[in-house]
Order: sequence, then C-alpha cells, then structure tokens
Amino acid sequence: MERYHKTLYEVLGGEAAIRRIVEAFYPKVQAHPLLGPLFPENIFPVMEKQYMFLTQFFGGPMLYSDEYGHPMMRARHMPFEITPERAEAWLSCMRDALTEVGVPEDLRSVVIDRLSGPAHHFVNTPSS
Ligand code: HEM
Repeated sequence: MERYHKTLYEVLGGEAAIRRIVEAFYPKVQAHPLLGPLFPENIFPVMEKQYMFLTQFFGGPMLYSDEYGHPMMRARHMPFEITPERAEAWLSCMRDALTEVGVPEDLRSVVIDRLSGPAHHFVNTPSS
C-alpha cells in the first residue's frame, strides 16, 4: 500500500519546474489585452513572488509566507479590478504556460482545477 502521496509540487518537478511555468506564464499575461495593463513594466519582482507563492500553494517549501507572512491573496488583489473575464483569462494563460513547458494533459487539468477556485474567489468587479 502506498504510504504517502506526492505533493503537486513534487509531481510537477519541483523548483525547476515551477520556475519554468512562471517564466512561460508572465509573457502570456503581459501580452493579454485584459491582463497586461494591470501589471508593471518590470515583471521580474512579480515573477519571483509568484514562484514563491506557487511553490507553497502546490505543497512545496513555504517560501512566500516565510518572506511576506500570511498570503491574504484576495486582499492583495483588491487594488485591481478583477472581473470574471480576467479570472478566465488568467487561467487560460496558465493553461497555455503548462502546455508550453510540457505538463501532460491530465496533470494540467489538476493544476488548473486547483487554481480556478482562487482565481474566481479573487473576482471583485462585475463583468463590464
Ligand atoms: C483572477 C485573475 C488574476 C488577476 C487579474 C491577477 C492580477 C494580479 C496583479 C495585477 C498583481 C499585482 C502585480 C504587482 O505587483 O503590481 C498580482 C499579484 C499576485 N498574484 Fe495575481 N491575479 C489573478 C489571479 C491570481 C491567482 C489565481 C494567483 C495564485 C493562486 C495569483 C497570485 C498572485 C501573487 C502571488 C501575486 C504577488 C502578491 C504580492 O504582491 O505579494 N494571482 N496579481
């Protein structure tokens, strides 16, 4: 009998894999008409925070909380108008990033399922 289950972090491939996903994701976000305008020109600090956050969100080391305290992600997104369309766009960029780095379809769906709860939870503005 299996004694433990691997975390999503481990299944994806750990540190190097999370870095590749983040690096594939942000160019898509920046190029997206609904998302790009929300982000600063210098995307590197955002990428680093996202790397730290996703690491812990997928069950790896608690990098984000160790540095920034409780994530409070919905609150941190409140300064930005997040519509349902932007949540879908964010998830779609993530799905494309996962495809680009070669995450297989079944695993891709698990990852997107995990992220779609938070993405929709961060919606704070009705459709325009
Ligand atoms: C629903 C659509 C989303 C939109 C439109 C969005 C947009 C943004 C924006 C504009 C920022 C601030 C960038 C800056 O520093 O200027 C940000 C930060 C961040 N987002 Fe999102 N986001 C979304 C969903 C998500 C999801 C689903 C996650 C992870 C589950 C996430 C994780 C983060 C993290 C970790 C940061 C950095 C927070 C910090 O400043 O410490 N976001 N997001």
